[in-house]
Amino acid sequence: MTATRTSAPTAPKATAPAITAEGLRKSYGDKLVLDGIDLNIAEGTVFALLGPNGAGKTTTVEILSTLIDADAGEVQVAGCHLTRAADAVRSAIGVTGQFSAVDNLLTAEENLLLMADLHHLDRREGKRRAKNLLRRFDLAEVAGRTAHTFSGGMRRKLDLAMTLVGDPRIIFLDEPTTGLDPRSRRTMWEIIRGLVADDGVTIFLTTQYLEEADQLADRIAVLDHGRLIAEGTAEELKQRIPGGHIRVRFADAQSLETAAGIFGIAARDEESLTLQIPSDGSIPNLRAVLDALEATAVQAESLTVHTPDLDDVFLTLTGQSRPADAVDSPKENA
Ligand SMILES: Nc1ncnc2c1ncn2[C@@H]1O[C@H](COP(=O)(O)OP(=O)(O)O)[C@@H](O)[C@H]1O
Ligand SMILES: [Mg+2]
Repeated sequence: MTATRTSAPTAPKATAPAITAEGLRKSYGDKLVLDGIDLNIAEGTVFALLGPNGAGKTTTVEILSTLIDADAGEVQVAGCHLTRAADAVRSAIGVTGQFSAVDNLLTAEENLLLMADLHHLDRREGKRRAKNLLRRFDLAEVAGRTAHTFSGGMRRKLDLAMTLVGDPRIIFLDEPTTGLDPRSRRTMWEIIRGLVADDGVTIFLTTQYLEEADQLADRIAVLDHGRLIAEGTAEELKQRIPGGHIRVRFADAQSLETAAGIFGIAARDEESLTLQIPSDGSIPNLRAVLDALEATAVQAESLTVHTPDLDDVFLTLTGQSRPADAVDSPKENA
């Protein structure tokens, strides 16, 4: 299908959805993992399922890619019924799992040729695709090296290249950049953008990184404890947050401690000695914060005003900051 697309990161309205799901549920034993998930993902877009560890991201990917069965729910992928036409679904999709499918004992090229075999491509076509993918992902020079010599970033690229051998229309990427260094992460982002822009594929990605969702996704759904607690564009999600925050940095841990005591809901970062105070960024609000600091005679080193980003969205929606951040429990406002 070749729909006309502009480069604008907005969903084309006219095309059929790539993925729809209604009332998706899954339990393991008496543990409810997915508690009624609804999805509607337009073709040729990037959809990010954002959530902390254990939220149910991998479970969702496994269900949508026919790897495991849901307990309930109606799902269509690439216009096909997920269970009644599972083979058709499988031929339209590619999955790059959270854990690598790369065989460490094989070379990069052999890994790709193995995938070509699995897709029943004839030898020549398999070789051709492998070569193109190696070139495209900047792996041509290491095509003959065994994968165990690869860095994390190279391995991820090879893993994704393997997914592309079958020429999927819809690609599931489960935490594609977790554990990568910032530079490899950016490379991966460029590759993902390229897939959508050049090939018009649909990307369903999961991530724990708000910035990643912000950078890549046309639409983002926030998954928390098996429920979608918010859905929209990055801009829409940010608009749900009343304001940004003021970040104040202190000279030492004692000052941080004292200051943390006088503000109500404030996230504290011991490492950078900063306090993040919710704020609408208005002058009166800023003045109130400064007055409160002055009243306690705590010296602030620096102060910055932030408009909302996805970190704030996550903090507000889930009551917790990014998994890596320590957050104080809310106190009564003085
Ligand atoms: N095969 C399984 N058996 C039992 N519990 C599972 C299984 N797979 C996942 N879970 C549980 O389901 C929840 C969601 O897991 P998962 O989908 O892997 O989350 P995420 O990918 O967002 O980290 C977790 O609490 C996890 O322990
Ligand atoms: Mg996972």
